[in-house]
Amino acid sequence: MSLLFFFFFFIFPLSSFAANDTNLTAPCPLNFTVLTVVSGGSPPSFDSGTRCQYTRQALRLVQSDYLRRTGFFLSPVNSSETCWDDFQSFINQYDSNFDIRSSCGFQTTWISEGCINITTKQDFEALVPSATLQNVESSCNQSLENSSPCALCTTSLSTLQASYLTGPSVGNVSDCASYSLIYAAAFANQGGPTDRGTARCLFSLDFTSSGSSGKKRTIVIVVVVIVMVLVLLLLIAGFWVYRRLKEEKNNNKSFGKTEMGVISGLDSINQSTTLIRFTFDEIKKITRNFSRDSIIGRGGYGNVYKGVLPDGTEVALKRFKNCSAAGDASFTHEVEVIASVRHVNLVALRGYCTATTQLEGHQRIIVCDLMKNGSVHDHLFGNMGKKLSWPMRQQIALGTARGLAYLHYGAQPSIIHRDIKASNILLDEKFEAKVADFGLAKFNPEGMTHMSTRVAGTMGYVAPEYALYGQLTERSDVFSYGVVLLELLSGKKALQTNDESQPTALTDLAWSLVRAGRPLDVIEDGMPEAGSPEVLEKYVLIAVLCSHPQLYARPTMDQVVKMLETDQSVPSIPERPIPLVAGRIDIERSAGSFGGSGQLSSPTGYQAYAFESDCRSFNSKEEGSSGSRVLSTD
Ligand SMILES: *[C@@H]1O[C@H](CO)[C@@H](O)[C@H](O)[C@H]1NC(C)=O
Ligand SMILES: *[C@@H]1O[C@H](CO)[C@@H](O)[C@H](O)[C@H]1NC(C)=O
Ligand SMILES: *[C@@H]1O[C@H](CO)[C@@H](O)[C@H](O)[C@H]1NC(C)=O
Ligand SMILES: *[C@@H]1O[C@H](CO)[C@@H](O)[C@H](O)[C@H]1NC(C)=O
Ligand SMILES: *[C@@H]1O[C@H](CO)[C@@H](O)[C@H](O)[C@H]1NC(C)=O
Ligand SMILES: *[C@@H]1O[C@H](CO)[C@@H](O)[C@H](O)[C@H]1NC(C)=O
Ligand SMILES: *[C@@H]1O[C@H](CO)[C@@H](O)[C@H](O)[C@H]1NC(C)=O
Repeated sequence: MSLLFFFFFFIFPLSSFAANDTNLTAPCPLNFTVLTVVSGGSPPSFDSGTRCQYTRQALRLVQSDYLRRTGFFLSPVNSSETCWDDFQSFINQYDSNFDIRSSCGFQTTWISEGCINITTKQDFEALVPSATLQNVESSCNQSLENSSPCALCTTSLSTLQASYLTGPSVGNVSDCASYSLIYAAAFANQGGPTDRGTARCLFSLDFTSSGSSGKKRTIVIVVVVIVMVLVLLLLIAGFWVYRRLKEEKNNNKSFGKTEMGVISGLDSINQSTTLIRFTFDEIKKITRNFSRDSIIGRGGYGNVYKGVLPDGTEVALKRFKNCSAAGDASFTHEVEVIASVRHVNLVALRGYCTATTQLEGHQRIIVCDLMKNGSVHDHLFGNMGKKLSWPMRQQIALGTARGLAYLHYGAQPSIIHRDIKASNILLDEKFEAKVADFGLAKFNPEGMTHMSTRVAGTMGYVAPEYALYGQLTERSDVFSYGVVLLELLSGKKALQTNDESQPTALTDLAWSLVRAGRPLDVIEDGMPEAGSPEVLEKYVLIAVLCSHPQLYARPTMDQVVKMLETDQSVPSIPERPIPLVAGRIDIERSAGSFGGSGQLSSPTGYQAYAFESDCRSFNSKEEGSSGSRVLSTD
């Protein structure tokens, strides 16, 4: 907590405190009555630890209302004193001993100091790209009561923040990060800031949850902390981007044509891996000149081809498009690391190729073992005819868990997959699960919570803390694993569309069934050879636990394997927090263990999520991730 307060003072510059208080008494244009409207008369209940945050959040809501009415973000300086007094008298209705300014260290004029030089709606709109703004308008113009629309809206807002919190100006901001929230509540959402769902989603003011013993409704505060973390992340991201750009200039080598050869005994990797570096001509031969018939998959990153090696082995080749030669060095290194990781439940990498051709530009290709039975996605949602039987699903669930546990705890360095989904779990001829596609893998520096540069992953599978704050840990994979497990159990896709064509997360559906005491309703109807109710229920509980929105509620992959393999019972599932996705505890921990680089940019929406290109993610390493840094400084 003390750390948080440190951030607090650190972020809001208090220097311009006016010595002349006497002329700050113009009438306050802010309307604090709106807080009463939102609360419906219920008093906020706050302890001494959270009331400063509560006042910050409540003030933002009031400022959002002011912005909506007048087009100005902040009240004029000459009304500072009056505004604090008004606010104070609102607060004093509930807690007469709490003096906001002296208790929280807020200076008087601070109430009228905001972000850089943004004062009006027009200033703000001029600063951000209109496409980003439109995306916010479409994502946030709906009731934000439930967690899915709220997550959609806050995700688009983090993109918005990233678009104006850039460059050196960030070094001197006070409350810039919250401007996107204030703006969205004022203009994007038709309900306005006083709508309950909006107040809860964007300002974390929850007037509906009842307090202990249900006697009074409580107001819950989270977002201040989030915003602090956001600002810090962005500061650090800016710094990193700058450094990486500089490094990239020095590092601009390309490989051009390569010769067939075997790399082994790599300097930093203590493994006897044999990874073949193919020439482009060899690749052409293997794929019969990339013939159409040999295409077995398509994606935003490029195509996947089937091919036959000279020794007769069938392989799959993944060809990335839109690559630049500049990233080859780290691509090569990454491929070498990936190839050193071998496990029966991981797809083995055989080789790769980087080359520049005249006609088709720069090429990157990776060569993996071919999996005869396609992916779990094909079997669950494709037209494969026969439904997977329960014993097969069990085997897939366990195999996938083992593969992931190995990535997290067996591999050196440990690897976070980042994009676990049904289409990335492949099946060999014996229906043994093989986790594929380490294209997005990140190497996890020991003991370090990873802050990623760019959120990569697939909508519906991405852990909330990762989607919103770019916080990447092994537990993000656990979340995605939980979603895949739910898909396996229910035969339903990660994201459902309900009658009003609003997306609903499978995780929410499963949770509501479990909470209603009907876990078996999650199971797909007519699953062949379904197991005993006890076993099925256990799997459902594990899946729901893994896909818990709170990071620390999720088990580790090791624990998951143990639960699946043995009679060990599933721990009770903690109640979900207010649906602002990640709880305060998580955020505090992430603030406390803050140590990586991070930039809060996430893809702008659905499509971008689903088609985030692997190749771009390789390239993104050069844009400022600590992943490649860790490797290159070894
Ligand atoms: C306050 O400021 C006004 C003008 O801004 C000035 O005339 C007045 O003398 C100041 N009063 C004090 C007490 O500093
Ligand atoms: C400053 O405020 C005092 C009373 O609070 C008023 O008498 C005086 O005229 C004000 N001065 C200015 C410059 O507004
Ligand atoms: C306070 O400042 C605003 C604009 O900055 C001005 O329009 C208004 O007249 C001022 N009010 C007083 C009482 O000085
Ligand atoms: C403040 O807001 C409340 C509720 O929206 C409204 O009833 C009241 O008239 C407003 N007061 C002012 C001074 O605008
Ligand atoms: C704010 O300042 C930056 C430079 O610091 C400038 O580029 C930008 O145009 C300014 N914005 C407004 C709305 O004045
Ligand atoms: C921050 O802004 C204030 C005024 O807005 C200015 O006086 C100060 O020099 C700025 N600091 C930096 C580090 O840019
Ligand atoms: C939000 O939706 C409503 C109707 O659903 C529409 O009238 C309004 O213009 C929309 N607002 C924005 C900012 O798109």
